[in-house]
Amino acid sequence: MKKYLVIGNPIEHSLSPLLHNYWIKKNNIFAEYDKKKLNTSDLKSLVDQIREKKLNGVNVTVPFKKEIISYLDKLSPEAESTQSVNTIYLDEDTIIGHNTDIAGFEHSLKDTNFNVKGKKVFILGAGGVVPSIIFALKKMEVNDITLSNRTRKKAENVKELFKNIKVVDWGNLPDFDMIINATSLGLNFSDKIELDFSKLEKNKFFFDIIYNPPETNFLKNAKKSGNLTANGKKMFIYQAYEAFKLWHGVKPVINEEIYKLLDK
Ligand code: ATR
Repeated sequence: MKKYLVIGNPIEHSLSPLLHNYWIKKNNIFAEYDKKKLNTSDLKSLVDQIREKKLNGVNVTVPFKKEIISYLDKLSPEAESTQSVNTIYLDEDTIIGHNTDIAGFEHSLKDTNFNVKGKKVFILGAGGVVPSIIFALKKMEVNDITLSNRTRKKAENVKELFKNIKVVDWGNLPDFDMIINATSLGLNFSDKIELDFSKLEKNKFFFDIIYNPPETNFLKNAKKSGNLTANGKKMFIYQAYEAFKLWHGVKPVINEEIYKLLDK
């Protein structure tokens, strides 16, 4: 039986096993997908298990997307450009780190009514997923990207990878067409982002990477003020879709049943 795993810390909340095992069953594949909480000191032995073919593929989530890189043999161009790996596979005897968050974000954005080409985008946060979002936005030919993070240094680090983005202090609100919450603010029901959106025109696009809860205060308030909104659920589904396709050579279905499964 083939074995797959998602690693992170924390990991309890991860819905990846639910989704992958659903698709594995649907496609009659002899495999199982599990989740495991790891520490940094476990990463080497994890990669050894892939080399020994005891593990056939691994998804990587916070906080290891960058840290895992030093244990891998090779990176895909996407993983190289973002210094972020969320999917690992073995090609012959080479352990390859790839990034499907980029395609996940890109597909999810294409599913909305918002055409990002030529637009101004403002991103809140500078955590693990932000380089992937920037990479996708640039691919989709946005005009301008501004980044703001509570810890400014981390935003400056992202700017090292993408020289032509702008960085502003936390609390500033530059002009934008689309704003993305890539912070963890919103995971708790009472979380609030202290930015004053009241003077904005309507019809901006508010995107939250968070999908549980499905509607953060950030999205709730934006919708109330007449803006377009989307949460991160499709991004999550599409990044998993890309990993599944890579590992199993099959395009898994994305249908209502999937959405219901993840809503439980
Ligand atoms: P990691 O930084 O390990 O990749 P993440 O969950 O991807 O983790 O990122 C968390 C993001 O949410 C960071 O941008 C973090 O800001 P800091 O870099 O300043 O820590 C942001 N964040 C978390 N709690 C926050 C808060 N109370 N106010 C503002 N930003 C917050």
